[in-house]
Amino acid sequence: MSTPDNRLQGRTALVSGGASGIGAACAKRLAAAGAAVFLTDVDSLQGEQVAAEITEAGGLAKFSQHDVTDEAQWERVVAECQSHFGGLNILVNNAGIAIMCDVFEMSLEDWQRQQAINLDGVFLGVKHCVPVMKDMADGGSVINISSVAGLQGAPGLSAYNATKGGVRLFTKGVALECGRNGWPVRVNSVHPGIIATPIWDKIDPTLATEGANNYDPDEMSETAVPTGVSGQAIDIANGVLFLASDESSYMTGSELVIDGGLSC
Ligand SMILES: NC(=O)c1ccc[n+]([C@@H]2O[C@H](COP(=O)([O-])OP(=O)(O)OC[C@H]3O[C@@H](n4cnc5c(N)ncnc54)[C@H](O)[C@@H]3O)[C@@H](O)[C@H]2O)c1
Repeated sequence: MSTPDNRLQGRTALVSGGASGIGAACAKRLAAAGAAVFLTDVDSLQGEQVAAEITEAGGLAKFSQHDVTDEAQWERVVAECQSHFGGLNILVNNAGIAIMCDVFEMSLEDWQRQQAINLDGVFLGVKHCVPVMKDMADGGSVINISSVAGLQGAPGLSAYNATKGGVRLFTKGVALECGRNGWPVRVNSVHPGIIATPIWDKIDPTLATEGANNYDPDEMSETAVPTGVSGQAIDIANGVLFLASDESSYMTGSELVIDGGLSC
């Protein structure tokens, strides 16, 4: 865990997809900055583990099992978060999947599954969290995890491009709606490049065994990324911390690109 500070003391954060990779790093980083973290995921085994690690390190955390595609489950977790921690200031819409497959080979079922998690999940998070956040004394910050693939096309990832490009523009529209309503809620997107997380082990649907694919983020980064290395989950968590804190108080509707120069 990074060096503790108290930038988020008294704030509560909900992190979806908090059991692994970027979501787990965000949960730990926000907790180290003093936030009470309510983390959710479909994976309850790993989610409970992340919450336990935060608690053992002296932070405040609670895990709840949650499928981001299910509206009733969003209603439940927002109510649980409020009753457990007394409010909600920060939403990190992070849960996501990536399916690597040319769109001509892709089933409608895979297209819809990816849309449901990556885009419907973000819509439902905003819909159910912002009405709580707007009434908080410290206001709120929504951080939607998009991707460099939300800024530019990538072969084999066109369906993923559609979800992440959707997250990028949805973010801007919601930022404007919050502003027009006079709500103290900022809404920004984060665009990671190639980050070494377990997502790369699950990206090819034709491979039955997780961890048995050809997408090694470190190898890919050697040629594709100007810095020559892949990013780490903590690199994204540090950007999320900035957007969650008052240090970014004049930012809304913005895109924070963290990609080692990949999209230059
Ligand atoms: N790793 C990268 O290179 C990279 C790059 C750009 C963007 N991203 C984005 O970052 C986010 C996090 O990805 P990661 O790399 O940490 O992947 P990851 O696979 O390590 O973590 C994703 C988490 O989301 C959870 N999840 C999946 N479906 C869910 C659902 N329906 N409801 C709730 N939780 C669900 C998974 O169980 C997992 O814990 C994703 O939105 C991804 O698209 C990742």
